[in-house]
Amino acid sequence: MQIKELKTTYYETDNINELPADECKLINRAIEALASSYAPYSQFRVGAAALLDSGEIIIGSNQENSASPVCICGERVAMFSAKAQYPDSQILKIAITAKTDKFVIDNPVSPCGSCRQALAEIEERQSLPIKVILYSPTGKIYSFDSAKILLPLTFNENRLKK
Ligand code: THU
Repeated sequence: MQIKELKTTYYETDNINELPADECKLINRAIEALASSYAPYSQFRVGAAALLDSGEIIIGSNQENSASPVCICGERVAMFSAKAQYPDSQILKIAITAKTDKFVIDNPVSPCGSCRQALAEIEERQSLPIKVILYSPTGKIYSFDSAKILLPLTFNENRLKK
């Protein structure tokens, strides 16, 4: 048996001013999106903002339901809304943040597995990496140059072909 390693590289900072202006703006739009979260069951709000190649920013927030599987995560609302409204646009960056009144979120919340899969497929479709920026209310930021970094050994449409 051989040992194989998967290496993940990402950036971390506590200083939002180290980020380019468009990413600061994107984070602020993700924070604003928290207000539209519908999270009566978890009280865990997630806000996201996707930057398109046109410069347009599309926001999303988690939308829960009493039938829990119906719930949709904030980043997927943003991504799918962007692709529904502007199917020919490319998503360059997405900022994601979370907030709850129940405890302090020290570290950035990273996308769940389903959102990683959705991000990876959009990235594959557009043949252009999506920069993922994760922001915690304490000011800590993680950023990833590509969504695929978050999902090694990604399952994609190529696996459906021989
Ligand atoms: N949530 C997101 O919006 N994004 C994620 O990637 C993880 C979880 C939401 C779903 C649910 O409304 C709440 O957070 C608690 O799981």
